[in-house]
Amino acid sequence: MNISFATPSVPTSGALIVGVLEGGKLTPSAASLNKTTQGALERAIDANAFSGKRGELLDVVAPAGLNNSRVLMVGMGAPAKLTEKDLQDIGGNIAAHLTRVREQKAAVLMDKLRGGKQAAERAANAGFGAVLRSYRFNRYKTKQKAEEKPRLKEIRFHLDNPAAAKRAFQRLEKVADGVFMTRDLASEPANILYPKSFAAEAKKLTKLGLKVQVLGEKEMQKLGMGSLLGVAQGSAHEPQMLVMQWQGAPNAKDKAPLAFVGKGVTFDTGGISLKPAGGMEDMKWDMGGAGAVVGLMKALAGRKAKVNAVGVCGLVENMPSGTAQRPGDVVTSMAGLTIEVLNTDAEGRLVLADALWYTQEKFKPKLIVDLATLTGAIIISLGHENAGLFSNDDKLSEQLTKAGKEVGEEVWRLPMSAAYDKLIDCDIADMKNISGGRAGGSITAAQFLQRFIKDGTPWAHLDIAGTAWTSKDKPTVPKGGTGFGVRLLDTLVSKYYEK
Ligand code: BES
Ligand code: MN
Ligand code: ZN
Repeated sequence: MNISFATPSVPTSGALIVGVLEGGKLTPSAASLNKTTQGALERAIDANAFSGKRGELLDVVAPAGLNNSRVLMVGMGAPAKLTEKDLQDIGGNIAAHLTRVREQKAAVLMDKLRGGKQAAERAANAGFGAVLRSYRFNRYKTKQKAEEKPRLKEIRFHLDNPAAAKRAFQRLEKVADGVFMTRDLASEPANILYPKSFAAEAKKLTKLGLKVQVLGEKEMQKLGMGSLLGVAQGSAHEPQMLVMQWQGAPNAKDKAPLAFVGKGVTFDTGGISLKPAGGMEDMKWDMGGAGAVVGLMKALAGRKAKVNAVGVCGLVENMPSGTAQRPGDVVTSMAGLTIEVLNTDAEGRLVLADALWYTQEKFKPKLIVDLATLTGAIIISLGHENAGLFSNDDKLSEQLTKAGKEVGEEVWRLPMSAAYDKLIDCDIADMKNISGGRAGGSITAAQFLQRFIKDGTPWAHLDIAGTAWTSKDKPTVPKGGTGFGVRLLDTLVSKYYEK
């Protein structure tokens, strides 16, 4: 679907979209169409008790007096209160509605409104939301009939300053590109997406100016990454460590980068601690953290962010086999710390231990944020509305919380402390990879990761097991892979760390 911006005019075909304010008050564009249609808009508003509340839609199909297919009225509530996220949600809802009614093209007639954002900013954000909602993963549908394919080709916003809207949109579109890549990666099945093919997708980003390096099994052995390699050893697929660098800061050379680290388990069977069959297919998106890191790096490079950033992904497949690691095995991590693997299904932390340590040794980053579909327990505590946030740094936590609210990818901080840390102490090694009980499962996982964070490095861990995938449509997220983390961290960067 194409989003475009043009000067004010009223096309004579396709759908027309106009705003309605709080209390059913018509915007100037709506009032003008109401006149042309001899009051059809107002009659529809009365007939449907349409209040103009934010998020409401009301369709007037084939109105007399116009050649257009429909006039879609969009509730905007009080325009002064509309946030960027509200506008994106409105755009997403419009795109979903137009798709459902099989519209092909639509023109949004924007008005100057008192209070709130300029029309250009409103249009750009609504366009962004429409794009985000129109994502489809249909690579493997070979028999789709024409009437099953979305027909929506174009939404054009008409406003006084189309150039300003276009500029704002172009930046947002790069973020959408990143989100789409993350969704694609999460949606790909594990026979197609495994560590090497995942890394190959990331390598394509060199054309945006990213530096992409990949470590193979041999190199990881040399570096002593016994923790990650233990997870990988049951799989026929070679593990990979993906390292992406973006140098966008002015005087790039001497600025410590922000580091983003992702769990990239391309399929998680649980290993010898095998998962039950029901729902195991979900574990194709156990690389959601790594997918978000790649999508974020794509967004940053795409919009030429003025920041130095590095993305590191530990890519493995967790399989049971004759070569798989056993419960009770002891592995030695790159940090030198030894781990008794009591449950081979608690593999994400084992992968991240070496990825986190490598990132600190190699890049001495200013801060680290890791993303991981780490624990089922986080879904029990927070459901699907918040990712779990664990951190050693109040400032970084606050920044993530604010950025999350702004984009609608919210995070909720959970506690960490010495008492929780103690639960992973081990009789025969430096630590064990599970605590024993199920109590506080997401916290003990975070405590495990923190043992691989050097003192003085601000660090945040996002447990995205509940937010990387959605089984129901949301205004800017169709069901499937959500791309959670890309917009959150892109906003963290732009709001607090750029220039
Ligand atoms: N990948 C899973 C966590 C997960 C569960 C992600 C559901 C997405 C949806 C992780 O590797 C895992 O298996 N965790 C175990 C840890 C346990 C063995 C301590 C879990 O949550 O049950
Ligand atoms: Mn697991
Ligand atoms: Zn996992």
